[in-house]
Amino acid sequence: MDGAGTLTLRTALDGERLLVEFRDTGPGVDPGIQGRIFDPFFTTKPVGEGTGLGLDISWRIVVNKHHGSLDVQSVPGDTRFQVRLPLTADSPDGN
Ligand SMILES: Nc1ncnc2c1ncn2[C@@H]1O[C@H](COP(=O)(O)OP(=O)(O)O)[C@@H](O)[C@H]1O
Ligand SMILES: [Mg+2]
Repeated sequence: MDGAGTLTLRTALDGERLLVEFRDTGPGVDPGIQGRIFDPFFTTKPVGEGTGLGLDISWRIVVNKHHGSLDVQSVPGDTRFQVRLPLTADSPDGN
C-alpha cells in the first residue's frame, strides 16, 4: 500500500472452514502476474527490498501443512487474500 491506505482483517465461518481475509486498498495485483505471486522468489519490488518469499511461505503453511486454501482477488483499490482453514485438524498419526 506504499504507506497509505486501509488494511482490513476479517474472520468468518465459511461452511466447514474458517475464513480469514486480508483486504487492502492498495494498487492491486496486475492480472498478468496473479498466477505467479505465490511462486518462491517472485517479486515486483526493487532489488534489496522484496524477497518474494512472503506468499510462498504463506502457501506452504496454509495449503501444504494445514490443508487449507489461499486465494487472491484483486482490482485496484480492493485486494483480498483469503485463507480458508479446516476447523478440525488431522490427528498427528494421520487418522
Ligand atoms: N497486497 C498486495 N497488493 C499488491 N500486490 C501484492 C500484494 N501482496 C503481494 N503482491 C505481489 O506479489 C509479489 C510477491 O509477494 P511476496 O511473496 O509477499 O514477496 P515480496 O513482498 O517480498 O515481493 C509482490 O512483489 C507483489 O507484486
Ligand atoms: Mg510480501
